[in-house]
Amino acid sequence: METLRVELGSRSYPILIGQGLLRERSLFEQHLRARDLLVVSNTVVAPLYLDVLEASLQPRRVVAAILPDGESHKTLATVGRVLDVLVANRFGRDCAVVALGGGVVGDMAGFAAATFQRGVAFAQVPTTLLAQVDSSVGGKTGVNHPGGKNLIGAFHQPVVVVADTRTLATLPPRELRAGLAEVIKYGLICDADFFAWLEARMDALLAADPAALAHVIRRSCEIKAEIVGRDEREHGDRALLNLGHTFGHAVESATGYTEWLHGEAIGAGLVMAACMSRESGYLTSEELERVTRLVARAGLPTHVSNVKPDIALQHMRIDKKVQAGKIRLVLPRGIGSAFVTADYAEPALSRTLEAHLG
Ligand code: NAD
Ligand code: GLY
Repeated sequence: METLRVELGSRSYPILIGQGLLRERSLFEQHLRARDLLVVSNTVVAPLYLDVLEASLQPRRVVAAILPDGESHKTLATVGRVLDVLVANRFGRDCAVVALGGGVVGDMAGFAAATFQRGVAFAQVPTTLLAQVDSSVGGKTGVNHPGGKNLIGAFHQPVVVVADTRTLATLPPRELRAGLAEVIKYGLICDADFFAWLEARMDALLAADPAALAHVIRRSCEIKAEIVGRDEREHGDRALLNLGHTFGHAVESATGYTEWLHGEAIGAGLVMAACMSRESGYLTSEELERVTRLVARAGLPTHVSNVKPDIALQHMRIDKKVQAGKIRLVLPRGIGSAFVTADYAEPALSRTLEAHLG
């Protein structure tokens, strides 16, 4: 087992990564003290892993809330159902919420934990690659609104993240590929060697090679833990983690959260951000080609034909990084470095959207 730490003073917590951790009762005893636990999962993950997790949480009171599957259910109404279960079972402030699933379950369970009785303890047990490399770490919780992605939410850090890499064995290949988008993002924003490693080992990752997956989960969590430890509330560097997301979120919300997986939209978003950088002189054509090729090799889209550029632009204007009406973009500067800027030429943005959308 690998143990990393997110250093946030009194709210610091460990990220535990390893094979078979769901069965390690001692881990849950050590890191999760509450006697009343609500496990939040969904109709796909619960039949696979709820029994195993419940056995590791004994002897305590364990109640389960099983949500419908999918991004289109990441809503306030679904979080309301989780809160209803907490109230109906008379859970108190000393309870804990445990998220068992991918990023959708994790974001909603975390938001329920952030708001129930103004905040109760929360543990992340991520079961997708995307959740193990990104969404389970850092304390961003929340839901979508028809008007925009992740518009409603709260920062609420977990007390522990338990990433059992064996759960990835049941993950559909399309979901594995979606997780790789966030992995490529880390290389592009701050680690050129990691980016080159991904170029060399993409075939092993697509074949779900356990050693290759373990390496990307550890390196991704190291990078995320370091950035979150520096800038928990996104006043600065944490925004770099949104590389590709202004474009990707627009694709997701323009298509009603049903057609593109989050990671797929981010894959195309990374290519659009790289294209914008090339248009603005921050990336060479060869570097843009490397980014496009790696995203394509991961089996992710580099072009989104069912969203028109003008519609995407409307959705980009609702992004949380908009300031004084100007869309701020995270742009790569070479491979392994990125920055946030509102200082770009509008025609460059139009050309980027025209080249990759519609
Ligand atoms: P997801 O939660 O929808 O999971 C993907 C699919 O895989 C679902 O159908 C799920 O039921 C299924 N699944 C999960 N684990 C499985 C397993 N082990 N075996 C078989 N099937 C399994 O999607 P995701 O990609 O994990 O997460 C995407 C969400 O995460 C988005 O809503 C995104 O906004 C959010 N996100 C949040 C953060 C954050 O910092 N909070 C960061 C990145 C993404
Ligand atoms: N995924 C972006 C963040 O956690 O800040």
